[in-house]
Order: sequence, then C-alpha cells, then structure tokens
Amino acid sequence: MASDKPVDDLTEAEAQRALARLAAAIARANTAYHQADAPEISDAEYDALKRRNAAIETRFPSLKRTDSPSEQVGAAPSDGFGKIRHRVRMLSLANAFDAGDVGDFDAGIRRYLGLSPDAPLTYAAEPKIDGLSLSLRYEDGQLVYAATRGDGETGENVTANALTIAQIPQALNGAPAVLEVRGEVYMSQADFETLNATGGRTFANPRNAAAGSLRQLDAEITRARPLSFFAYAWGDLSEPLAATQWDSLQRLASLGFTINPLTRRCDGVAALLAHYQAIETARPDLGYDIDGVVYKVDDLALQSRLGMRSTTPRWAIAHKFPAETAWTRLESIDIQVGRTGALSPVARLKPVNVGGVLVSNATLHNEDYIAGRDSNGQPIREGRDIREGDWVQVYRAGDVIPKVADVDVGRRLPDSVPYVFPDICPDCGSAAVREPGDSTHRCTGGLVCPAQAVEKLKHFVSRGAFDIEGLGARQIEMFFADDLLPIHEPADIFTLARRDAANLGKLKNRDGFGDRSVAKLFEAIDERRRIPLTRLLFGLGIRHLGEVAATDLARHYGSWEALARAADMARPAAERHLAADAAETEERARAAEAGRRAEVKKARDAVWDNPPVDAAARAAWDDLVGIEGVGAVLAVSLVTALAQPRERASIDRLIGELSDITPPEARATDSAVAGKTVVFTGTLTRMTRAEAKARAESLGAKVAGSVSAKTDFLIAGEGAGSKATKAADLGVTVIDEDAWIAMIGG
Ligand code: IVH
Repeated sequence: MASDKPVDDLTEAEAQRALARLAAAIARANTAYHQADAPEISDAEYDALKRRNAAIETRFPSLKRTDSPSEQVGAAPSDGFGKIRHRVRMLSLANAFDAGDVGDFDAGIRRYLGLSPDAPLTYAAEPKIDGLSLSLRYEDGQLVYAATRGDGETGENVTANALTIAQIPQALNGAPAVLEVRGEVYMSQADFETLNATGGRTFANPRNAAAGSLRQLDAEITRARPLSFFAYAWGDLSEPLAATQWDSLQRLASLGFTINPLTRRCDGVAALLAHYQAIETARPDLGYDIDGVVYKVDDLALQSRLGMRSTTPRWAIAHKFPAETAWTRLESIDIQVGRTGALSPVARLKPVNVGGVLVSNATLHNEDYIAGRDSNGQPIREGRDIREGDWVQVYRAGDVIPKVADVDVGRRLPDSVPYVFPDICPDCGSAAVREPGDSTHRCTGGLVCPAQAVEKLKHFVSRGAFDIEGLGARQIEMFFADDLLPIHEPADIFTLARRDAANLGKLKNRDGFGDRSVAKLFEAIDERRRIPLTRLLFGLGIRHLGEVAATDLARHYGSWEALARAADMARPAAERHLAADAAETEERARAAEAGRRAEVKKARDAVWDNPPVDAAARAAWDDLVGIEGVGAVLAVSLVTALAQPRERASIDRLIGELSDITPPEARATDSAVAGKTVVFTGTLTRMTRAEAKARAESLGAKVAGSVSAKTDFLIAGEGAGSKATKAADLGVTVIDEDAWIAMIGG
C-alpha cells in the first residue's frame, strides 16, 4: 500500500493521496482525543502519522495542503473543544440577599412540602466558591471526561486540562459504576497574584484566571497554572451516594475529593444565618474568593420531592455577600437603545476597581433613578439627583452589571446642571415616548431604528437563541453596516449563507475571513436551519418573551404554525383586554374613594361584553393567558408583535429560510400522564397542591385551572365540589388522589 511505502518511493499522485489521508486521520485523532471518549490511537501512532506527514511535505512542498496538520500547534484542533451533553443538567442557583430572603426560602420549602413552621428541617451550608463549575464523569472508577457547565445542557470537553489539577483524581476506588462529581475549579488568591506578576497577560480576578486557564487548548499551559477543585454536588449516578447531602459529601471525601472544610449541617434559618456570619468573618483569611454561602436541604428524599424550577433547584439557594462598592467620577451619561426600543442611560465612569474588577460603565436605570425618585415618585437617595461630572458610588453584586448607587453632592462641580433625559431616540431621531405607568422611554422607530435592529439581531444570534458559531455581536455589527452583504434582519443571515460564488467572493475579502472561516460560518448558519421551537421563539426578541416563557409556549403549542394561528386568532380579544384594562384603571380612580370594588369589575366586564368578542377569539385568548408563566402582559406583547405587518413579514421571511422547527421534547414520554391535561380540585392529603402540580408537569402533563372538554383527568381530593360535578357532566375521568399517585408511579 502506498501509505506504507518509504517516502522516497512515492509518486506525486500517491503523495497527494497520502497527504489527504493523513490530514483526515490526524484530524480524527485530534477530535477523538479532545472529546476523550476514547482516543482511537496511541500517542506513538499519532506521532508517527505527524512525522510521515511532515516527511512527505518536505519532499513535495508544492503538495502541502491548506489544512496541513503540520501548521497546527500541538494536538489541539484549532476550532476549540469538543462538546459534551450533560446527562443531568447542570443547574444554577437562585439568590438570597438578606435574612428576609432566607426566611422566604425556608418558608417556601415548608409550604411546598406541607411542613409546619416549627417542624425540624436540616440544611447543609457551605461557601459559594467563586470559580467555574466542572462535571467529572467516572465510569467503573475511571475518569471518562471533564466538562464545563456551558449552557447547563451542553458543556466543553476539558478532560486533558482537568487532569492537570492535582485535586481531580483520574481513578477512584469503591465508587458507584457511574458517578458524575460536580464542583468548582478555582485559583487561590496567591496563585492569581503570582500568575499576574509573571504571566504574559493579566487577569481581572482569580475567577477569570481560573476560567482562562482551564479553557486552554494547550493542556501544558493549564498544567503550569495552579488550579484547585472543591466537590459539592453530583449529576448522573448509578446508585445514590448516601441519603443526605452531608453524608454524600463525606462519601465524596472518602473517594479522594476535597470538600470545603466550612461545610456545616444547620437546623433551621437561625443556624443558617449564624453560619453565614461565621463564613463572612473567615472570608478574608480563606486565601480563595467566595461570594456567598449556599444552603441545601440536607435530606435527599426531600430534595427530590422539591425538584426544580426551569433552571434552579427549589431545595437550594445562594445567600450572597453584600455588593462591593467604590467611588469614582461620572464622566458622562450615554443613552443606549435596546432591542425593544428601551432607552437605557449608561454611566461612563473614570475606571475604578470594584472588588477586583475594573469598572468603567454602570447602569443608571431610567429617568426617575437619575432624578432621585422611584417609580412611585418617592425620593430615593433622599432625593439627590445624579449629574454628569458627579462623584458617584458604584457597586457590583455578583455577575450583574455594575450600578450607580449614590452621589456625593458635596463634591459636585459648581457649574453642573441637572440631567435632561432625551425625548428623541439618539440613534434614529424618532420620538422616544414614556407611557403613563412606565418608567422607561421607548423609541417609536421600530425596525426603522438601526439601534433596535442591531440589538434584535445580536439577541437573535445569542446563546439561548440561534447561537450561531462565528457570528457574535461583533460580526453582527460589521455585517449590519456592510453595504455589499448587509444583514438587516434574521432572514438575511440565512440568505448570506447561500454558497453562491458572488457571496463567497464578497465575504472573502473581509477582515478575518478566509476560505476556511467562510466555509465554517456557512456551515454553522446552515446547521441552525433546523432549530428548536423554543430557541426560535426566544430569538424573535419579543418584549417579555424570555427563555422560560418561550419554553412554556413551545410546550403548549408544539409548533410555530399552531402558535402563530392562536396569536392571530386571539388578536381581537387582546385588543379588548387592553381596552378593558384602560376602563378599569379609569374606574378605579373614580371608585377608589367610595371603595366600590364591584364598580371596577363592572366597568371591565362592560367593555368585554359590548359587543361580545368573537367566541373563538376569546377562547384562543383565554387559552394563551391560561398557560402557566404566560399572563396578559406577555400575551398582549406576543399578539401585538405578530400583528405588526412589517415585523410579521420579517418573521415569515425567516421561517421561510428554516428547514425544520423542532417541537420541545416531551418531558417524560414514558409516563402515563405525558401530554394529558389534568385538573386538581379539593384537598390533597399526600402532597401539597404546589407539589402535585410540579410533579405532574415534570412528567409532561399540562395542569389546567378549570375543567373543560379538553381535560383528561380530574383529580378530586377531599371535599371536591363543583368541578367534580362539571367533570362528570362532560364525561371527564374523575380519579382520587391515591389513583393519581398510582398512575404517576408512587
Ligand atoms: S450547588 C444544584 N454549591 O454557583 C446546585 N454551587 O450560582 C448546583 N457554586 O453553577 C450548584 N460554590 O458554579 C453549589 N458550594 C456550592 C457552590 C456552587 C459555587 C457555583 C456553581 C453554580 C453557581 C450557581
């Protein structure tokens, strides 16, 4: 075979074929290595392939390929890390900022579980490490991969790098057959200082340094950066580690992981707060950054009953330390226009270090905030306004955008003047209107406003939406301003990716775009012609339509067509809803003194009934606002957005470019209640209503508030009344609580 022939004996044609084969084999080995399921060839074989490739290239320099493996540094594929889908999602945590929030957290759990306020309830409390989370999968005691959190569902494969961390064992003794250990990779403050003093680039804080070091394509660089790891949670497991959070952590410790020594078991809120104090006191001497304390229900059976909301568990919360603050000069106030037209005032600051991060921009919220009053007209900061040139206090709490908290009027410049909020859009010159009851000025330019259009596009390609690799905010701005190949709306992204010669030629002469990167970009765009309905909905950038609502809508309607049809149908009812709202507000002002609540409702009903709204419209509307997590505000926003002719035409063009809009996965297709609509009534004795509802939904059922012909089951608890009668009339199956529990598998 030519591939075994000495290089000197190869003909030119054989050499060319050999180089192609070698490039493919080396690329494949790189991928296998970095996705680390199982490297397919040994290091020695890999080196032999590279050597042979280099030898052939030396003998036939003109045959050297554009994607020659010898041009690639180290073994890393140039396009980054392989992706890993987490078998169990990596969650984030809800936050508590004060004792009141912690009390609410505890009370909410008790309510959900039906526990009395004085029933014993134990938590595990541990420092919240300020690093980045990592999931380590072990099978039969061997590390199979290490993956970053990513978006919680898919992370990056950083196995080679994780193995350079001394606290991450490669093999375990006595572990369950499948064990995913989760925890935080961090860098100590001392190592961070040393790295910044000696390294080429400087990092803002230890967390950035840890992230930058772990996400290195060259594991040797990671090895040279001292990282540490605390284990605090787990994902996929073939058998439970223990019955409690605390004992599970001890088990992880006995398997060789480091757990945080400040972890304690606490009985009730008072004990949690006392431990919070203790950790806050210890904080300056820990040697690593922490940004709060995490509280977790200790009993794992209770954890599993509590389950999760869309991205955070109900059984845990992060109690954050107070924000870091600093004083600096406010150089100017700029107005940014967002994708929904909202004008946001941004403070341009003389750069200042706030808790380890250099801050030069901060939000000023809105006109009222700058003027020193809240949305009800009440003074904030004792009524002190904020002016350009002022000396201001900036604060950061966790990851959120820095804010301007206060102003030192004693240091105010003598010639300063109150800030006047603009009433025209700085980007398109359209009127910027502040509606009554709204604290925000909004540009009325719609898609005509370039700022709105660009922000909408940036949102469209963002992570939770179409997430197109190689097409980020920077590229969007470039293409938006491009005369030859403009992207002005989402559909343009897909027309750009048509591989016609003209497009290719126009693109290739641009900064940073060569043959390969253009081909890759087109591929990334084409990949997204098949898109989950949830991402599509979120990507449209409709006001109030966040990721959670997008999921709820997608689950409910199942397809774009069904959703669009329902929104179109509901339009007359949405308009009536707004009219009824207006009538209600007016009547409320009139009836307030007399306390005539009934009048208010009457005024509202009168608008709905005269003349009655078309029944189909009303039904479509009721169905839409009845979706858990939707509500009238979002419903109006959705219906109105789809009813704007220009916006709708733009969405339709986009839909025309897509090949497949995939419905959300049913949450648990093997459950007997998946896809069924159920209604609970009466008093349940074995779980609370909230728990019953969450359980049902997690099994893929739809929980409705009232019985209709669409109801599949009515679960009648003790003392069920009119709903049970109605269900019987409609021929809906009525079952009791025990039958329901049997149906969902106990
Ligand atoms: S538990 C199911 N415990 O905080 C809960 N998280 O804001 C999973 N973190 O993504 C997280 N220290 O990266 C947990 N002791 C700790 C933690 C911790 C730091 C991070 C983790 C998580 C983030 C949530």
